[in-house]
Parts: sequence; C-alpha cells; structure tokens
Amino acid sequence: MISQQSIQEIQSRIDIIDVVGSFVKLKKRGTNYLGLCPFHNEKTPSFTVSPGKEIYKCFGCGKSGNTIGFVMEHEKYSYVEALRWLANRYNVVLEETDTSPEYKAQQQTADSLYIINQFAQGFFSEQLFDTDEGQTIALSYLRERGFRDDIIRKFQLGYNPSARDSFTQTALAKQYNPELLVKSGLVANREGSMYDNYRGRIIFPIHNQSGKVMGFGARVIKSNDKAPKYINTPENEIYVKSRILYGSYFARTAIDKADECLLVEGYTDVISLHQAGIENVVASGGTSLTTDQLRLIKKYSNNLTIIYDGDSAGVKAALRGLDLALDEGLNVRLVLIPDGEDPDSYVRLVGAQAFNEFIQKEKKDFILFQLQVSLQEAGNDSVKKSQVVNQVAESISRINRAEDFTRRQDYIKQVSGMLKVEEAGFTNLVNTIIRDRISREENRQRQKQEPEPATDSVEQSTPESQAGTQLLNAYEKHEQAIIRCLIEYGLKPWNDQMTVAQYIFQELEEAPDDYSENIANPVHLKILQLYKIWYHDGLEPNYQSFSYSEDPEISQAVVNLAVIDQDISPNWKKHYEGYIPTREDLYRDEVRSTIAYLKLRNIHRQMEENQSEMEKSTDIDQQMISLKVHALLKQKELEILEMIKVGTVIFK
Ligand code: UTP
Ligand code: MN
Repeated sequence: MISQQSIQEIQSRIDIIDVVGSFVKLKKRGTNYLGLCPFHNEKTPSFTVSPGKEIYKCFGCGKSGNTIGFVMEHEKYSYVEALRWLANRYNVVLEETDTSPEYKAQQQTADSLYIINQFAQGFFSEQLFDTDEGQTIALSYLRERGFRDDIIRKFQLGYNPSARDSFTQTALAKQYNPELLVKSGLVANREGSMYDNYRGRIIFPIHNQSGKVMGFGARVIKSNDKAPKYINTPENEIYVKSRILYGSYFARTAIDKADECLLVEGYTDVISLHQAGIENVVASGGTSLTTDQLRLIKKYSNNLTIIYDGDSAGVKAALRGLDLALDEGLNVRLVLIPDGEDPDSYVRLVGAQAFNEFIQKEKKDFILFQLQVSLQEAGNDSVKKSQVVNQVAESISRINRAEDFTRRQDYIKQVSGMLKVEEAGFTNLVNTIIRDRISREENRQRQKQEPEPATDSVEQSTPESQAGTQLLNAYEKHEQAIIRCLIEYGLKPWNDQMTVAQYIFQELEEAPDDYSENIANPVHLKILQLYKIWYHDGLEPNYQSFSYSEDPEISQAVVNLAVIDQDISPNWKKHYEGYIPTREDLYRDEVRSTIAYLKLRNIHRQMEENQSEMEKSTDIDQQMISLKVHALLKQKELEILEMIKVGTVIFK
C-alpha cells in the first residue's frame, strides 16, 4: 500500500498539462488545451484538457478523467502502477505502508529479475548482430524467413550462443546473483555446475505492458526431434504464464485506434503481422485463454478477433475459452486461416491488404461459429441436437449484463432461426438458465453469510426497466447540474447573507441533512454530504477535492459532470459588440434556474403520485384531500415558474 501522504504529495505536484502533454500534442485554446484524442481516431481535435479543474474530456468518444485516470487509461496501468509512474516523474519518494517482510522480499526479487532480463536481452541482441556465430546461424535464419532488420530490432530478438555457458560466465563476471540467474530460467544448475539454458536458440523477449522484459521464449533453429521447439521462462515473481499476452506492449495504441484486438498463437505470427503493418495483434502462446488474459484484452478493446490456422489444436483451446470471454463481456469473433497456412505464412503469401480484407470478410461470430460446428457434428441425431440447443442457450445466457440486452436478443433471434425452434421457447430456456445461475450464486453467497449487494437480475435487463433507467437519466442530469453549481460556484456570494453553497443547501434540505426528497442518486448524496462537511471545516472544496477522492464512484461522478467550456463560436462574437457574458458572470442565474428545475421535477412527480392516488381511491374524504394537495402543488409550481422567469438565461 502506498501511504496517503505520498498520494497527496503526488497530487500536489501533478501538472495535468505536463502529463497529458507528454503523450498528446496540446494547443492552448482559451483557458483550456486541445488536441487529437489518443483514445479514438479523429482528424479534428475534440480532446480537451482543463488545467483549472485538472480534468480531461474527449467530446468525440466521451472518455474523461483526472491526471491519474489519464495515465491509467493511456498506459493501461492499475491505480498503483499509475501512482508509481507519476511518483517517478515528479521525484516523489513513495512511502509504502503495511508491507510485510515477505512482500518486500518478493518485490526485491522481482526488481532484480527485471534487471537480469534487461541485461540478458542486451547480451542476446549483441550476440545476434555482432558475432560471427550469431550472424551466420541465427540472423541468417531470421532473414531467410523474411524478417527485416528493423523488425528484429523492434522486438529485440536475440541469440544465445551454442557454447555451454557463454551467457552464464558473462553474467557471473558481472556479479549477478547465481540463485536469481537460475530463477530467471536463463541459467540451469546441474549439481553445482551452471550452464546456459537456451544454448543455440533464437531468443524472443516477452515484454510487459510498460516494455520491461518479463521473460523469454527460446526457439530451436534447426528442428530437432529430441529438443522442444520452444523453451519458455519458468514461472517466477515476474513471469506468470496465465497473464502473458505476447506483443501487447507493441500493440496497445493500434488496438485502441482500431478498437479491435487480433489474437494469434505464436510469437512469429505477431512479428510477421507487425512487419506487414498490422499492429493490433497479440499472441496467447498456444494454450487456452485464461481469465487474466481476457481481462487484459478487455482493457484495450471489447472486440476480440481470434485468428487461428484451421487444423491447429489452438482452435479447440480457444473455443474452450469462449464462455470465459462472454463472461467478460467481449465480442468474440473467429477466423480460420485456410490451407495449412498460419497467420505468419499467410500474410507473407497474400500481403497485408488481402490479409486484412480476408479477416474482415471471414470473421465469424463465435457463438454462431460454435453452433455451426456442433450442428454439423450432431447431424440427424435428435439427442445430440437437443444437447446443442442447451449448450448454445448456456453460452447466450452468459451475455447477461444490462447493457448487452439487445445483443442477447439478436443472438436469440438468429440462433432460434438456425436451430429451427420457436423464438419464445428459446428465450424462456435462456432466461431459465440465467435465473438458475443467479439463484445458485445467491445461495452460495448466503452460505458465505456475507451481505452482498443484489446481483444483476433477469428483471433488471428487461426493456421496461431500461426505459426506467433512461427516465432516471433525465433526473440525474438535473441532479448533476446542482452538484456542478455547488462545486463550481459554492464559495461565491449568493447575496449579502450567504454563499451559493449555503443557498443550495437551504433549498435542498427538507429537514436538516435530509436531501432525500430532492436528490435520489446515492453517489450525488455522498458528494453533497462530503461538501457540507468540508465546507463547515473551513476547507474550500473544488473539483480536485472530489476527483482525487479515494472513492472511485465519487471521482468518476464528479469528472463526468464537470463541464469544460468550449470556445465561444466566432459567429457569436460577430453578433455581440463588445463584451460577451460568460457562464462565470451569470452564475447566479445558473444556480437559480438549476434549483428551480430540480424542484419543478419533484413537484411534477408528487402531482403524478397524488393523481394516481385520487384515481384509485373510492373514499370521498380522501379524494377531497387529494384535490387540496393538488391545488397546493399547483401553487408551488407557479411560484417556481415565476422564479425561472426572473432569471435571464436558462442553462440546461
Ligand atoms: P508454433 O509452433 O505455431 O510456433 O507455436 P511459432 O511461434 O509460430 O513459430 P514458427 O513460426 O513455427 O517458427 C505457437 C506458440 O506456442 C508456444 C509458443 O508461444 C509459440 O509461439 N509453444 C509452441 C511453446 O511454448 N512451446 C513449444 O514447444 C511450441
Ligand atoms: Mn508459426
């Protein structure tokens, strides 16, 4: 854990323009900075950074966040990794709390392994390019296979000489720790005698997300029945096989831009595709996909296209990963490379453009692909066929997040067509599977006796409740506007007696500290309460106070609602001679109308409730009361409308 002081020190030194500016070319525009969005493809800049609020926002793709969030998003770092990166940049010495001695020792080993790997990578590269043996045996092999020198250098390929211990001797002479050398997998130790593990092999370094070498794949040059084709780094503190995605470091930006991640099997497939200019590609290393790998992919893109050669065992392995991929909410498509080729040989054969066209044309939806294969296998066997129905319903049931509702409906439609079954019946089957899974999960949780928040239920993803969330969104817009006024103008005077913050609290509170009538969203409530506490403590809450909150919900909510003003259009300037009022000048109007709209919305809600009660009731007295309530509400409504008229400008 990084100490709170260190985090605060980082926050106080962060300069968002400096940080973002080191990745994106920024131009000053009024009070803000503008550039081409690094998260999507665009020709005219809509990526805006506000130094005052320390927030970035893209008006094209909608991504937004604070400085730490930017580093996380751009570098695909975790929160802690982003803090380390920033600490390094701003020379903050990180204080770590709660670190057990075991954890510290593990960190030290990890650091040392990275250093050894970096040294080894340099050694292997030198051997490849600058020695006779490397050039005649290894470099010539790579060139014969068609790899260009610039690509060999980019991927930092190398060569481990065939002598027994040339790497081992060099490393020992440089005082590298023998135990760690063995742990790194580069050196083997047989009865006290140490020698090179990857003798006579081409070395493929495997890089982590930030380009550091985690381990190696070492390939034989001449095929040899006895020796394995590849030897890979053994599991250690930094090389965890289930998390390896070969090539991810080189693919990041291309995946972002294409919003698609291509997945192949081998190191050489990745490198060949890069050489052909197809850079959004990573390799799984030939085993079935793990959840960790899928999560990593999902950080880059929701669209995963798996490219395998038709006859490889990899297809089966990949298919096994299907349910996992759906759980992660990925759109998975599959392409098989024809005629005994693999991606490496196929791109050489047909060229980059034809390869790309082939992928885009041939990629098949994963679920439908699986269905096709199993239906063929089942033939006319009706027992097998019903197994297929169940299996595909199970797969579809995994597409179960509220936002995926339409996608699931699409599948149900297509699949019931292919299976020639009734759509309604098939929908029921899928829903039953979902419900069963949920109740199984609930049981499990109840057994654990942990109070858990409600999981996504079937009902939540019905169209009616989706309409409900949309309605709620309109309410939330109003609430957001209130919170925005509070954070932006709270400390300014409202009138002689009070500040804007005091006015807003007074208007929103039905009873002391009770905002429930006016503010429904629990995160907005939290923000209001936090603001009030800070305000009364004499602090001056602003965007930064909330955006760097430890609570990610608060941080994201505030970043989302922040408005970064765009330039006033030149047309405006033509129409107005002289001074143009800004939002800042008109803040009282904005506060007044925002409060008024929120109140109006609540009056209307109460009116509706009252109305429906009146319609249901058969009791005359009750109806009379309802009528009076209605008159009162109507009166209040008029007052508020009057209040809105007083303001000159209405902001929505
Ligand atoms: P391939 O046999 O397709 O290797 O295995 P490749 O990388 O395409 O190499 P070339 O083109 O034949 O030279 C695919 C992946 O499976 C893993 C490696 O990650 C390899 O890139 N693998 C394969 C091993 O880990 N060990 C092996 O013995 C073989
Ligand atoms: Mn291959």
